Amino acid sequence: MKRQLFAAATLAISVMLGHSAAASTCKADVEDPFDLDAAAINEIYTCLSDKMAEGYAKDGNEVATAYRDWTVTGTRPAVQGAHGSRLLLTFANDVAAEQYLKFATEGVDMPAGSVLAKESITISTKKKTARPGPLFIMTKGEEGAAPDAGDWIYSALMPNGKPMKIKQSFCHDCHVSWEAQDMLAYPVEEVRVSN
Ligand code: HEC
Repeated sequence: MKRQLFAAATLAISVMLGHSAAASTCKADVEDPFDLDAAAINEIYTCLSDKMAEGYAKDGNEVATAYRDWTVTGTRPAVQGAHGSRLLLTFANDVAAEQYLKFATEGVDMPAGSVLAKESITISTKKKTARPGPLFIMTKGEEGAAPDAGDWIYSALMPNGKPMKIKQSFCHDCHVSWEAQDMLAYPVEEVRVSN
């Protein structure tokens, strides 16, 4: 009798967990995120897209509630390697879009008020699942706003919309590699949306 009760409780718990897991994960049957082809990536994005945007917007963050109406800069998410081998898709606000979509490599100076928001999807090659990762954000301030970082302010939200504690230098020390592009790294070439 006791054993039966225990089994029933275990079953109930696993059903509950199964439910919550199903709400935010999708299948990704792959050994290495770099092996995902365009069709597989599109399938994952279709599966996660709505839940991801809802999650980021949950806490009412100004960027998170707006970015899906901005200009999408890639034809689909793609893996570049930095940002933890996640699938990435960047959106540019109205101030940023025109200049960003040129993907210029020299003398770029983004206007103050530019915001880039980058969705990320984490692939677990062990669990064979895809789930939302952080929303990475870069905001260009007025001249002098962040002198050590080219006036960019870096921030990030967790998949539930809560702000992540990040160090400006952690983000900027890598982004400074693209100084001639005003710190912007751009999506991989094959997915860039042309202006
Ligand atoms: C190890 C290097 C590295 C670090 C650290 C890093 N990034 Fe990036 N970031 C990149 C690369 C590479 C891209 C372009 C990736 C792509 O879209 O395919 C990128 C793109 C971005 C973009 C889209 C705009 C652009 O550059 O084209 C945002 C927004 C962004 N990162 C925010 C952040 C934030 C916030 C942090 C810190 C929490 C951070 N990044 C840390 C390398 C890095």
